[in-house]
Amino acid sequence: MLVNQTLPDAVTIIEVGPRDGLQNEKHVSTRAKIELINALSTTGLKHIEAGAFVSPKWVPQMADSARVFDSIKRASGVAYPALTPNLKGFEDAITAKADQVAIFTSASEGFCRHNINCSIDESIDRFAPVMEAASDSDIAVRAYLSCVIDCPFDGPTHPSQVARIAKRLFELGCYEISLGDTIGTGTPAKVSAMLEAVMTEVPISNLAVHFHDTWGQALANIYQALLMGISVIDSSVAGLGGCPYAPGAAGNVATEDVLYLCQGLGISTGVDLNKVAQAGWTISDTLKRQPSSKVSLALRAHGLK
Ligand code: HMG
Ligand code: MG
Repeated sequence: MLVNQTLPDAVTIIEVGPRDGLQNEKHVSTRAKIELINALSTTGLKHIEAGAFVSPKWVPQMADSARVFDSIKRASGVAYPALTPNLKGFEDAITAKADQVAIFTSASEGFCRHNINCSIDESIDRFAPVMEAASDSDIAVRAYLSCVIDCPFDGPTHPSQVARIAKRLFELGCYEISLGDTIGTGTPAKVSAMLEAVMTEVPISNLAVHFHDTWGQALANIYQALLMGISVIDSSVAGLGGCPYAPGAAGNVATEDVLYLCQGLGISTGVDLNKVAQAGWTISDTLKRQPSSKVSLALRAHGLK
């Protein structure tokens, strides 16, 4: 086992709620999105994925991303990345002044086809011109690799397949590969096997984890990943999220829950838990539901306004 068993002193949280969370909600006004991002910008978060430049026919919920990027109050030292599936998305993201972009593909053919309408190989061919344009504009590119544990269409994904595609994305020039348990079926043993395989191909410092919490295992899986040396975690305020093309997927692990876990482990995040929880309650009120974060519910029970 490559388990390092030493927890990191600090982790970076990549807040994906305004994109991964709100792409899965039917009616959220542009104003509510902007207010959410502005609120998150005051919490100490340094990376807030603010939208997606994807086909509006595929994900109409993100069709207002240009307006969102145009109207947010950008905080100094905070990066506002955008999701981009192809060169058109990249160009739109640059016009909107996204600070970074994230390309995305899958370790399984079935999800790749359903989500971006092409094979894994074709998706990587599409990314080549994005990488070239990004390099010309000095824009850092992150990559999401979905279905690293299971695929809703193809079943289990073999760790060696995840390692193979992660290596290709890294060789393409992505500075970080975010490993997505898109449907949240992973458990620590499976996450450990997957990370072990990927770590033989991509340095651990260039890997992040992105765990949806459908089966309630995301925090346990994050703990496992931390023990193995992962220090970048994607999470979503109030546990918002899901992918419209991943049937049955629940939201991402809640940012509030990750912050509380890190606090308890003495891992610094630089992020104010109470402020994130407040932002989570505001967007949850808009969505007319409670946050799925247990930490947020406990904070409210203990008097968070
Ligand atoms: P396609 O239909 O094969 O592409 O879709 P196309 O090139 O034939 O284009 C179709 C139409 O879309 C054309 O317009 C294009 O101009 C337009 P028309 O001529 O019909 O009027 N188009 C675009 N418009 C705006 N922005 C663009 C763009 N590209 C083409 N960038 C495509 C292929 C990739 C575009 C489509 O499948 C797509 O947009 N998919 C996105 C799906 C998506 O956003 N899923 C959710 C995000 S991924 C996720 O949540 C997982 C993640 O969180 C990690 C994890 O949890 O594992 C990241
Ligand atoms: Mg996701």
